Amino acid sequence: MEVILAEHAGFCFGVQRAVDTVYEKIRSRGKDEPPIYTFGSIIHNEEVVSDLQRRGVNVLSSLAEAEQIPKEGRGTVIIRSHGVERSVFERLKELGYQVTDATCPFVKRIHDIVERESAAGKSIVIVGDQGHPEVEATRGWSHTKTYIIGSLEEAEKFMPGEGEELYIVSQTTFNYKKFQDVVEILLKKGYNVGVVNTVCNATEVRQTEAGELAARADVMIVIGGNHSSNTRKLYEICRQECEATYHIRTLDDLHLQLPETVRLVGITAGASTPNNIIEEVQNYVRINF
Ligand code: F3S
Repeated sequence: MEVILAEHAGFCFGVQRAVDTVYEKIRSRGKDEPPIYTFGSIIHNEEVVSDLQRRGVNVLSSLAEAEQIPKEGRGTVIIRSHGVERSVFERLKELGYQVTDATCPFVKRIHDIVERESAAGKSIVIVGDQGHPEVEATRGWSHTKTYIIGSLEEAEKFMPGEGEELYIVSQTTFNYKKFQDVVEILLKKGYNVGVVNTVCNATEVRQTEAGELAARADVMIVIGGNHSSNTRKLYEICRQECEATYHIRTLDDLHLQLPETVRLVGITAGASTPNNIIEEVQNYVRINF
């Protein structure tokens, strides 16, 4: 029986980089140095967050929390891959924290574009989900008005001010096709727009690859948190191709009885599933079946 792990299972480049940054900081921290924090959970994975907590890394959920930490306890704050508003950076520094920026470079690029184009007087349109932390962070780099458009209906209803010049960017995880459709609607309305596609293809690559693997596999295992929407999406894609698709959070959830006829087991994992969990499952299936 063959076991194949999808090449792009688990963390994308930006998340891996952010998680590595935290572990690197833990290793290089001197004995008497003040603690390390992350601004928000570094990833949505309970195992990783509790492991970091055991190693003394705490989560600051807001600036108000950062303000409450006594001065002598204000150590390093690591910014996660989603990024934060410019005002958050500035305030953390003012409060005396050392800020380590682990914003994904693809997200940072959007911040730079937004800063530059808004400084040139353009209003910013972010095609993305209202309230998503990445979108909120991006709008915080604009010097001018920002608009968020999350659907084709919103694009149809959208009305900027008279003569307003617009610059359009997208949330990195937004659906590329939908982004194109929104842009097309705005262009058709004849607005004065500049546009740059800032969708990151990491999610799409992971999904396409998982679907292809599931189409060949007799059994497909999808690893990821119960609340991870991208894991659920992966599960749905794989299930369409392979009826025997199982969603597990960790190895403990795996209770497989594989019939003799099974020739190929495929494994993939959501964007917030750490490598060690993927490895554990992979090794278990290789050894036990
Ligand atoms: Fe990941 Fe960065 Fe893309 S965080 S999804 S590689 S924008």
